[in-house]
Amino acid sequence: MTIREIKFVPESCLREKCAPIEDINDEIRKLADDMLATMYDAPGIGLAASQIGVLKRMFVLDVAERESEENGSVEKEPMVFINPEITWFSEEKSTYQEGCLSIPGVYEDVERPSEVRVSFLNLEGERQEIESGGLLATCIQHELDHLNGVLFIDYLSRLKRDRIVKKMIKQQKQA
Ligand code: NI
Repeated sequence: MTIREIKFVPESCLREKCAPIEDINDEIRKLADDMLATMYDAPGIGLAASQIGVLKRMFVLDVAERESEENGSVEKEPMVFINPEITWFSEEKSTYQEGCLSIPGVYEDVERPSEVRVSFLNLEGERQEIESGGLLATCIQHELDHLNGVLFIDYLSRLKRDRIVKKMIKQQKQA
């Protein structure tokens, strides 16, 4: 497993539409391992391939730690989604304060459907479908957006978004 370099806004790879994965081979399994290692190292609860500059439709998640904070358990529950598609959205919406490993230090409220059904391939190439709510549903939508070049700051006002991008450019000049 290799920890890969996370790309920050305004890197152009974060704005690309990613291509479907045709074949789940060793390269893809290695990529999934690297993405999970990179996510846990950051630390974060989700990471899309485009965030490490790989323009493929895959993301990884682990919301278990965050959800189980209350009972003190820290079991890892890595999830890998290949070629994911949202097949159903609830009409009900909920708001979460979102952040992104590609936009460090920025947290803003985003409203999204509360529940979604997502269809995807797992690492064995099997088509699966899960229904999710709460933090998991928000994360799935946030990560799936990445595969289409969409970032959570796109849901904010233009003024707010421009301010965040300017701040990111400034931070990277200093770094
Ligand atoms: Ni993100």
